[in-house]
Formats: sequence, structure tokens, C-alpha cells
Amino acid sequence: MAKRTVQTLLEMKREGRKISQVTCYDYSTMRLVEQCGIDSVLVGDSLGMTMQGYENTLPVTMDEMIIYARSVARAAREAFVIADMPFMSYQVSAEQAVANAGRLIKETGANAVKLEGGASVTEQIRAIVSSGIPVCAHVGMTPQSVNALGGFKVQGKGEEAAEKVLKDALAVQEAGAFMCVLECVPPKLASLITSKVEMVTIGIGAGAGCDGQVLVWQDLAAVTTDFKPKFTKHFGQVGEALKACFRAYNGEVKAGTFPAEEHSYVRSDCSDEYLEELNRRY
Ligand code: KIV
Repeated sequence: MAKRTVQTLLEMKREGRKISQVTCYDYSTMRLVEQCGIDSVLVGDSLGMTMQGYENTLPVTMDEMIIYARSVARAAREAFVIADMPFMSYQVSAEQAVANAGRLIKETGANAVKLEGGASVTEQIRAIVSSGIPVCAHVGMTPQSVNALGGFKVQGKGEEAAEKVLKDALAVQEAGAFMCVLECVPPKLASLITSKVEMVTIGIGAGAGCDGQVLVWQDLAAVTTDFKPKFTKHFGQVGEALKACFRAYNGEVKAGTFPAEEHSYVRSDCSDEYLEELNRRY
């Protein structure tokens, strides 16, 4: 697979080819993702929950995003890497947004940035795009507004709410976004938006009518099993497989069967006789 770019992702939309995206937060996992034909990765601020154990994404800082995004970008050869702008790194002003988007691109090697919000952040999107940085927008359920929304809830259910989500999507496209995440939006509304816009739509809890889909990798691999959102699916049981490895290791260490001879470095430049002499001397 060739390196995915803004242009090839838009071409995929035009040709009706679906786009796959997963979240990723570290180098080792990204090495695996790269071997599976995934088109794009999002270093999402969901890392506040999946990697840092917070209740929501609000505490994540720019410096933390940079550390995670940098390790993912270092492993990415072909997938298109998007780095999330954390809460309060762009809301204050267009100048703040450009400065922080610039840091994310310059200090991590990501290909684009993502920020949440519709009509209310068009000034920021316009300014970031003008500085040469591709923007992925995010409308519908926007987790950074969890306190304003009163929880993680489906958005755009009623007629007025549906019109707001559509207007938000049109506004971010007009401001220059090339891609937009539609989160927890009713499927028919997400399909309507997808057919009306030229930018790529990436759905999460928004039905199959979007141009592509994104899932948090720990959710799709069943690494985190304490809570399973309705929109996710377990495509494997990695959590169980990992637990089996940890249990087996624990058992062998305690039984003294690991390491075996083949797991040790055998060096011939120190003879058994010399070791015996050391034993005598000390
Ligand atoms: O932060 C994130 O990972 C996200 C996706 C779940 C869309 O915003």
C-alpha cells in the first residue's frame, strides 16, 4: 500500500472505496497496525481514558499528546496519521489553534490535526488550514464538551438537533476541513451528510453510510472489557490472549521453569574452572 495522503483519501471517497481508521497511541501497536492495511490512524485524546485512566478526555495536555503522537508517527510508513488537539489547545483563539496545530505537526511528524466542534470553531479551522496543515473536524457527540452535553449521548436525534449537526458539518467543510468525524449521529443523518459533502466522513456510532469508520483499538480488540459502547464490536479477544500470556509467564517464573537453557546467553570465555575459583575466593 502506498502512503495515504489527503488527496488519496479524498479519491477513495470519490470512488466509493471505504476508509479504515483506528486509534493508536504507541510505537509497538502502530507497527502491527501498519501490517494490516489500515488507511489512517488517529492519535485520539481518548488516550486520556485508554492510556492514562482518566474518566474523560479533558485532562490531556499538549505535551502528552506530543509524546504519544510522536511514537505513533515514528512507526507509520503508509497510514495517514492524525493527531488530536486536546481540550483548550484551540478553543481560546485562532492564533492559539495555529500555534498548537503547528507544534503537533512539527514535533510529532503527524500528517494532520483533529479538533472538535462545528460552526463554533470555523475561525480556528480556517487559520490552521491557511498555515498549510490539513484539518479533520469532529461533529455530533464531541467528548471534550461532555460537561456541556450532560454526558456521552447520541446527538442529532430531534429535527432541530439534526439540522444543527448538518449545519456544523457544512460549516467545517466550508472552513477547509478535508475530513470530519461524525460521532454518535443517527445513521440516516450521517448518510445524508456524507452524500452532501465532498470531505471524507468517518463514522463512530454513526452507521455504515459514512465514507469510513474509526474505532478505539482497545475496544475493537477487546482489551478493555469493563464497558462496551453499543457502536463497537469485538473483532478478537486480545485482552484474554494477553491475560493467558501473563498467567503462563507468572506460573513459569514461580515454578522455576523459565528461563530454560535456550533463553540464556552462554559465553565460553569464562570457564567452569574459573567460576569454581571465584566461588572459592569469595
Ligand atoms: O479521541 C478519539 O479517539 C476520538 C475518536 C474516538 C473519534 O475522537
